[in-house]
Amino acid sequence: MKGVLFNIVQEVVEDLYGSDTWDDLLDDADVEGAYTALGDYASSELAAIVAAASVRTGLDPEAVLRLIGRLALPRLLRRLPSGVEHADEPLAFVRSVNDIIHPEVLKLYPAARPPVFDCESTPDGLVVHYRSSRNLPDLAHGLLEAVDDQFEQSVVVQRLADDCDANAVFLVRVDVS
Ligand code: HEM
Repeated sequence: MKGVLFNIVQEVVEDLYGSDTWDDLLDDADVEGAYTALGDYASSELAAIVAAASVRTGLDPEAVLRLIGRLALPRLLRRLPSGVEHADEPLAFVRSVNDIIHPEVLKLYPAARPPVFDCESTPDGLVVHYRSSRNLPDLAHGLLEAVDDQFEQSVVVQRLADDCDANAVFLVRVDVS
């Protein structure tokens, strides 16, 4: 897992609870924690940090990852190269994660292994099939929920029953009510 993701988790934790708490989490998780953006680290380190945060907050690990995703998106967007076009509509933005954003990420971080989001337009909204060897559907859930904060239209994300090929399936729709 790319160090940039750990840098963002650190920023989120420090903004919410301060830098001492980040150090405490690293101690609890028994990880070194000197993450550089381009470095590669075991996903198990993220799982250990999330488990430590879960113990301290009383939130379950799934909720911790979802909250991190929710707060991570603006920080990730700031790390995209300035020339990358932002979609002007929420569902187009979600499609762009697979078609534009993560391919751009691969130019910045050639060894990255971003997940796949297969998107399918349906009358109910955009059905998004998330596939990843890292299996972080709760992180994906929170990131998708954070799309709401990027646009004036309100975005609703629902987790659908998982299909056998995907790690998770989401329905993302714009709430017109
Ligand atoms: C709604 C928008 C986005 C979603 C839903 C999303 C989803 C995810 C998820 C779930 C992962 C974890 C790895 C996995 O599941 O296999 C990931 C990895 C990553 N994403 Fe995104 N992402 C989004 C936007 C962005 C943006 C704007 C950036 C810009 C820098 C970015 C950069 C990365 C990087 C660097 C990784 C690490 C890949 C690796 O460690 O190999 N993502 N993304």
